[in-house]
Amino acid sequence: MIVVSDNDALRDYLDPVRGQSRVALVPTMGNLHDGHLSLVRQAKEEADLVVVSIFVNPMQFGKGEDLATYPRTIDADILALKKEGVDVVFTPGIADIYPQGDQAHTAIHVPLLSEPLCGAKRPGHFDGVCTVVYKLFRLVQPDIAVFGEKDLQQLLIIQKMVTDLSLNIDIQQGLTSRASDGLALSSRNQYLTAVERQIAPRLWETLQDCSQTLQGTATVSFENTLSQASDDLASAGFEVDYLELRSLQTLQTATDLSRDCALFVAATLGKTRLIDNIQISAAR
Ligand code: PAJ
Repeated sequence: MIVVSDNDALRDYLDPVRGQSRVALVPTMGNLHDGHLSLVRQAKEEADLVVVSIFVNPMQFGKGEDLATYPRTIDADILALKKEGVDVVFTPGIADIYPQGDQAHTAIHVPLLSEPLCGAKRPGHFDGVCTVVYKLFRLVQPDIAVFGEKDLQQLLIIQKMVTDLSLNIDIQQGLTSRASDGLALSSRNQYLTAVERQIAPRLWETLQDCSQTLQGTATVSFENTLSQASDDLASAGFEVDYLELRSLQTLQTATDLSRDCALFVAATLGKTRLIDNIQISAAR
């Protein structure tokens, strides 16, 4: 495994092998957990050469968000990736991604899908995500790239960006890895206090219950079910940002199950914002 920290070194390594090897990219912000590593394993199955990028992307953090304190554990990350048999770890510096700073950089905006849910709460967040992912795609030029369903809105936006811009990259989705109590693994879980950590699995339990109720009887009121679930989370101590059923195609509100959709939730526990989702296939 080699660790390369600038664009020239990456190009020198990849240019001779491109074309002969199927290259996969797994973009991350580091502080790797088993969720990230499950994407790496998936990439290894699909490709001859796996590149994992580690870059805490300032452009996707809003004012007052946790950019400065975002956990950085580069040595442990590199060790974990070596164990997984990764070929290249790409750890660019800010100047490799944003030569004139992220404020002066050309931005990519994916309309419609970037507006609702996390887009409404975190203005500019998905422009920052798309811009860095596009840039990583250009630098690595992968055949495939793997993203987690844990961040389902992000995944759908990147799929649309790839289609809209004819990028010719196969975007693969990885299942969400969870702790044994159901909490989706996330770098931000370590911000939770011991008490909050005990409450946190309620998010996934609520999504499962809600999904079962919605699929249960034809007469169930979607609105009541969602607002009841939201109230339950609030009673458990969450500040609920949204709990919504949205179409997977458009991310518009879904009022029935005639199309593939998902329940999306974002809620803050203490100082930690958690997100999760559950997909529901169209009723046939
Ligand atoms: P990060 O939060 O580090 O996540 C990197 C990748 O790991 C994303 O595709 C995310 O969906 C996936 N992931 C996170 N938790 C997971 C879990 N529990 N199970 C499976 N996959 C999981 O997402 C980002 O970084 C950034 O926005 C990025 C795409 C790298 C752009 O900066």
